[in-house]
Amino acid sequence: MTGPESEEPLLRRAVCPGSFDPVTNGHLDIIGRASKLYDEVYVAVMINKSKQGLFTVEERMDLLRQTTAEYGNVSVEAFHGLLVDFCKQREIPAIVKGLRAVSDFDYELQMAQMNNGLSGVETLFVPTNPTYSFLSSSLVKEVAAWGGDVAHLVPPLVLEALTERLGRK
Ligand code: PNS
Repeated sequence: MTGPESEEPLLRRAVCPGSFDPVTNGHLDIIGRASKLYDEVYVAVMINKSKQGLFTVEERMDLLRQTTAEYGNVSVEAFHGLLVDFCKQREIPAIVKGLRAVSDFDYELQMAQMNNGLSGVETLFVPTNPTYSFLSSSLVKEVAAWGGDVAHLVPPLVLEALTERLGRK
């Protein structure tokens, strides 16, 4: 039994899924806001074997763990499979996603409806802080690869990792 009559208090859990290659300030904005709304927030690094990342899954998780440690209720895991199975295994009823622009909405709506149809899990959309509405890991990597300044877009730890990986000072 869960809920008001059970002995164990019901923990409100949510997952923030993504590739996080690497985590950006935009991701952290959403994860931080989710951590205020839920008791436990899982950050799920979803493994896509057909997509070669700049960082390994272990490296992404390490950067996420260090940059989310201050929130206190966020844990980071990797998962190979369907997001709904990650949720089922951990009894997570809600997925939290950031929406940057209307263009995000089309595909996000499809995924939300598919996930709900598969397992009943709900998706909650959080409007991205306008400061980060143009921000994506792909753009950060592209700009950094050409020597552009991304210091205001990622945490210092990630900037260091990017600089080291891309061989630029
Ligand atoms: O950071 P991204 O790459 O935009 O995140 C997309 C992600 C990983 C959240 C999405 O592709 C996903 O949920 N993948 C897991 C596999 C899955 O459940 N696919 C069906 C989605 S309806």
